[in-house]
Amino acid sequence: MIQWICHPEDHKGNHLVPVFRRRFELHQKVQKVVLRLSAHGVYEAQVNGRSVTENRFMPGLTSYYYRIQMQEYDVTDLLREGGNELCVTVGDGWWRWNNNFGYTLALWGELRLLYADGSVETLSTDESWDVGLGPVVRTDLQKGEVYDARIEPHGWQKAVLCAEHIEGELIENQSVPVREKERFPGKPMRDADGKLVIDFGQNLAGYVHMTLHNTKRGQVIRLKHGEGLDKEGKFSTANCDGRRADFQEITYICKGAEVEEYTPHFAVFGFRYALVEGIEPDSADFEAVAVYSDMENTGNFRCSSPLVNKLVENARWSQKGNFLDVPVDCPTRERNAWTGDAMIYCRTAAYFMDVRHFFKKWLVDQSIEQYASGKVGITFPSTSSVHNPEELKAVQKTNPAMALAGPTGEGNIGEDSVGWGDSAVWIPYQMYLMYGDRVFLEEHYDTAKKWVEFSLRCMKEQNPLYADKPWYANGDGDLIYDTRFHYGEWNEPLPPAPEVVELFAKGGTAADFVTHMAKYGKPEVATAYTKRSCDNLSHIARILGRTEDAEHYAALSEKIKAAYDRYLIDDDGTIQPGHQAAYIRALALDMISEKKKPLVVAQLKHELEKAGYHLNTGFLSTVYLLPTLCDNGLVDEAFRILEQTEAPGWLHPITLGATTMLESWNGMDVFRDSFNHYSFGAVCQFLFEYVAGIRPTFDAPGFREFTLQPTIGGSLTWAEASYKTRYGIIHSRWERIEKGFVYTCTVPEGTIAHLSLPDGMKKTLAAGKYRMEGKLCE
Ligand code: BGC
Repeated sequence: MIQWICHPEDHKGNHLVPVFRRRFELHQKVQKVVLRLSAHGVYEAQVNGRSVTENRFMPGLTSYYYRIQMQEYDVTDLLREGGNELCVTVGDGWWRWNNNFGYTLALWGELRLLYADGSVETLSTDESWDVGLGPVVRTDLQKGEVYDARIEPHGWQKAVLCAEHIEGELIENQSVPVREKERFPGKPMRDADGKLVIDFGQNLAGYVHMTLHNTKRGQVIRLKHGEGLDKEGKFSTANCDGRRADFQEITYICKGAEVEEYTPHFAVFGFRYALVEGIEPDSADFEAVAVYSDMENTGNFRCSSPLVNKLVENARWSQKGNFLDVPVDCPTRERNAWTGDAMIYCRTAAYFMDVRHFFKKWLVDQSIEQYASGKVGITFPSTSSVHNPEELKAVQKTNPAMALAGPTGEGNIGEDSVGWGDSAVWIPYQMYLMYGDRVFLEEHYDTAKKWVEFSLRCMKEQNPLYADKPWYANGDGDLIYDTRFHYGEWNEPLPPAPEVVELFAKGGTAADFVTHMAKYGKPEVATAYTKRSCDNLSHIARILGRTEDAEHYAALSEKIKAAYDRYLIDDDGTIQPGHQAAYIRALALDMISEKKKPLVVAQLKHELEKAGYHLNTGFLSTVYLLPTLCDNGLVDEAFRILEQTEAPGWLHPITLGATTMLESWNGMDVFRDSFNHYSFGAVCQFLFEYVAGIRPTFDAPGFREFTLQPTIGGSLTWAEASYKTRYGIIHSRWERIEKGFVYTCTVPEGTIAHLSLPDGMKKTLAAGKYRMEGKLCE
């Protein structure tokens, strides 16, 4: 059995960055040499000083307590006759990040030599390997790295077997490789404090490659990475560091040379700017390197509006900036793989890149980590210190809510939340739609069902606060979900509710706020999402031939919808005055009877007018805003909101120079919150599916058949999109001409398109290229 080995002095409180070494002699010719590696931490491996791969941050992030990946490399060409040396450095990575998984870094590996005579020799990690320390003195994914170029690997001693034992199964690699991608040369400038700042022109996730000239031995160079300059023009990380003391920093100690180069090894940052100390700009070149999961580009959208085109680029960059083996909310403050964010965006993600394998690997961890209660992690692989038992005990003392967390617990309070946990249903369902791959549904059906059953159980709980509500009086309490903690719309650009203002005015803490939220519940949000998940689950069950479940959840959905319509929508269509989200949600998730629908649409129209055609949706409903307006006859309004350049709106940050999507609508105006939060980029789904009109259908998923239904609107004079399916590239383009439009499209071989043009023309198209003209009534 291959053993996990570590440095004898690497333990809690003594963070080392071990370099493992195995020297060996080659006495005869080899046919093939294969290296297999895994680590508690992230590794970089070299054979005779040459890297075995260009891939970064291996073995990738999985639920290490259950499964951990190993990678295999053919290193035959790196070997030479006589003495050879394999060196593997292991950095903290996700293993030691927040001490979530463990305290000690370890290596697992094997070098398998197949000799020309057919004999085989294996060198596996064991106590015969050497371990020492190298120039990487300290490293943390988020805090950064300390690198002393004067240090040669030293302090060699024998490795020991790792006592920090976990049962996780070693599995073949399933990750899409993380690689260095685009590079941006930096421009030196002075901030308002006169400090040297390098501007790379693009907000991204990655690191800085430095080339330093004529350095002195021991010269210390520091780089701090941030997303922006504050309101006074000073470099600052205040918007995205969560007030951490050490955050996104590189300390490089020069060896002293005419030229020396450095790229961080085990750290990755969200940044556009770097504050530099210790060197003048004429002695250094800085280049930002974007690092992300290397997926094939699949689609593009362009139109006559440069601002909308920039929006598309920004969304794409936020995807690049957050899809590093798992989809994280932002590459700076939290870096957690939040379910809600991914649920909102996963379909958009597929338009930009081939995300099939990326999500396939990630979703397995959601199912693995599902709690016995049916809850799923709000982030997974969970990075909220629930894996490492010792750490869990410690956090439970300071945060009693964590008592529910941990592998055998029931899930923490945030994990009750609809709109996040529903990812267990929604993401596999959407991946099936985009790729036609049933494995998504088959593998995750039980997880999805257990989550829905959990929500339905919570729905039956009674909330004393609402005891006098008619749903209780009429015996329909089981159909309105008015209990538990839900994040809800989150980040609506509206003033907080009066009771929340009061709570904080009285000195309430974040924990009090959570308790407050749990007390009030969010009936409008929770009931709607649970209904939607019943719909989705029923549909999935139908696809999988589970007829009984299909009927059961469809019937439940009908009942919930009727209760929602009756109790949560007033007779005049009012749901929550002032909140566009309430109307969008009810329309998009199909919560309204035919009778009340026109009234709800009228209320929504009124809300838009009141807001001067500025959106005020938050986290969950924004993705639905424009499609829902179009589906309900409000096409002009949809384009007006899309093209709005004042806050709140998608284009506003672009007028301020944004190069990625923001977390908060006014984030750049007030220099607050992350500047690289991908979820609002889901507006691009609207651009592909409504403006260009390329839409998938469940009847023939994976674009075997699809709809082409372009929407001409706003000030746009033309728009086009292309999308690469496994059959070929779909292309759809319209251009206004006098009193009408020209429409062209390409339908790939082996597919069928159902065309529906703005002039009412409908046609079924076989594979081919088409051009047609239509009239528009003005
Ligand atoms: C994260 C989000 C996440 C949310 C939960 C935030 O702090 O950045 O993107 O989904 O918490 O509401």
